[in-house]
Amino acid sequence: MIMKFGCSKTTVLRAIEQLERDGLVYSKQRIGYFFTLKNNQCIILRKPNISTSRSDQINELLYYNPKNGMYNYSNAVLDKSLAPHSYIQKCLRAIITGSSSFEEEFIPSPGLPSLRNRLSFLMVNRGIHCHADDILITSGDTQSLGTILKNVINQNSKILLVVPCYYGIIQFIESNKLPAVTIPLSDTGDEIDILNLEKILKTENIGLFYINPTIHNPTGRTLTTHTRNSIYKLMKTYQIPILEDDIFYDLMVGPDRPKPFKSIDDDNIVIYFSSFSKTLSPGFRVGWCLPGKFRKEIFGAELLNNSTVSSITQKILDEYLKRGYYTPHIVYLQSVFKKNNQFMKDLIAMRSENILSYTPPTAGFIHWIKLNKEFNMETYRKYCLSNKTFVPSGNIFFLDKTNTNFVRLCTGLKMNKKDITNLTFLINSLKNHLS
Ligand SMILES: Cc1ncc(COP(=O)(O)O)c(C=O)c1O
Repeated sequence: MIMKFGCSKTTVLRAIEQLERDGLVYSKQRIGYFFTLKNNQCIILRKPNISTSRSDQINELLYYNPKNGMYNYSNAVLDKSLAPHSYIQKCLRAIITGSSSFEEEFIPSPGLPSLRNRLSFLMVNRGIHCHADDILITSGDTQSLGTILKNVINQNSKILLVVPCYYGIIQFIESNKLPAVTIPLSDTGDEIDILNLEKILKTENIGLFYINPTIHNPTGRTLTTHTRNSIYKLMKTYQIPILEDDIFYDLMVGPDRPKPFKSIDDDNIVIYFSSFSKTLSPGFRVGWCLPGKFRKEIFGAELLNNSTVSSITQKILDEYLKRGYYTPHIVYLQSVFKKNNQFMKDLIAMRSENILSYTPPTAGFIHWIKLNKEFNMETYRKYCLSNKTFVPSGNIFFLDKTNTNFVRLCTGLKMNKKDITNLTFLINSLKNHLS
């Protein structure tokens, strides 16, 4: 190889190392390097399709990315260009060198004590004062949601949802055939009609109220402190548990950011949960839950199921928080999103001409655009698909799927020229399909 390519031995060895890291070759001691068999490689190819069912659209939303030939600004995940790779690697190295058996250890539920301790300190920034013993480590927000919905609500009562809402909870409700009632979020995304809420509480048998109050998914907006206080007062009066999904909280900026329901919860009716999916990486699958007065049910269910989170991941995050890497990383994300949001605000203002309604988010990376005129979503989606861009219908965020006149775009990424062109294309074609 040295002769054939005219390079040094170090370069050849480095190239082989890279191939090994990419899984294309493997080594056998004292024999040499071998190509990985082709059929060991897992390549999934699917034809781009216009699907209308909620589950198909969500599968596609999670699947499409430039690697499989499709641009996708519809997935509310943190792009890997913003994950703190080198710092995570440092933490992993420290764990490997510091322990001879780190990979064998099993950490039972409720999770690594030192990580739970650090999370209790993180909660102080959110105005929540709790003890490490109050915290359960979960496999992301999704595990908290599932455990709570299965173990807290009593059989004859209904779940109250603010719509539009995160499709994950709708999927859970639909697949488990749970009864649910909805209440709309105001058009600006920061209020709920309190009189209407009280009417629902009086007339329906509500067992649980689910809310994602800060950087709400899919509107990107945040409930005001005034609205939070009014909602809490009502829930306390009617003794309805609040399921507070606060996955985006750390992306909020400034001292005036509204505090979680949990911070005013003097009656312990709030079940609070959050995760690192929107700030570090969804791949870690690490979240946490403060179950309030439902501690026995929720901790008990997790112990019974032997549910736990990979010990290596818990240790990496524990080390990451211990070294103080989290706060500067959050400040960095906030600054990237501030720039991205300004770009979206200018872009939409420039093209909208009153046919699009859009209230820019104050933080985070979710943009919720309402189409004010008659609009054929399927034609728009087909047109985008033929231009290698995937967009689901806004109706996946509504329980009854009747509202199609919305598009959610997400900019949780370090934008490059191509992203700017693609987002401009998406907004321009929205406008063209309207008029
Ligand atoms: C509001 C909301 N809750 C929960 C989740 C699921 O999060 P996790 O990856 O931590 O399971 C998401 C992910 O998009 C979300 O937006």
